Amino acid sequence: MLNANLEKALNKQINEEFYSSYLYLSMSAWFESKSLLGFANWMKLQSKEEYLHAEKFYNYVFTKGGQVTLAPIAQPKTEWKSVLDAFENTLDHERHITKCINDLVDLSLAEKDHATGAFLQWFVNEQVEEEANATKILDDLKMIGDNSYGIFMLDREMGTRKPETEAVAGKE
Ligand code: FEO
Repeated sequence: MLNANLEKALNKQINEEFYSSYLYLSMSAWFESKSLLGFANWMKLQSKEEYLHAEKFYNYVFTKGGQVTLAPIAQPKTEWKSVLDAFENTLDHERHITKCINDLVDLSLAEKDHATGAFLQWFVNEQVEEEANATKILDDLKMIGDNSYGIFMLDREMGTRKPETEAVAGKE
């Protein structure tokens, strides 16, 4: 059985992950409106990844005999000042999610729920990767500055990102 405090906290995290998916889809739409189709592709794939994170929590709650209660998803921002601004927002958001995951780990320890603690370790590791990816892109953008050719080249690179399963399978 799932302890009531953990059930509530895991449901809250489902909402956080759906919001992440929504935020990155909103960024994808904004990039698309600026004809930055590579960045739009990267963000759309990021949005799908976040949906899968929500689904992982959703499935886990049921596996532990808990109940999923979906709550409204807040409206994300729709405009950013620049590409740099969007990725600063991305890194800030990932840091917020890391804190959410750490708080969940703390709660699982306090409630002596070791199974949930073990489940959460996947997310602890994932957050290291999420923050590193956003930081790398942000560093590239800071180096590029206002150079539009640099943005153009980075946009092309961002367009090469493939969905996770295809990347693992090495498909085109
Ligand atoms: Fe699901 Fe980007 O954290």
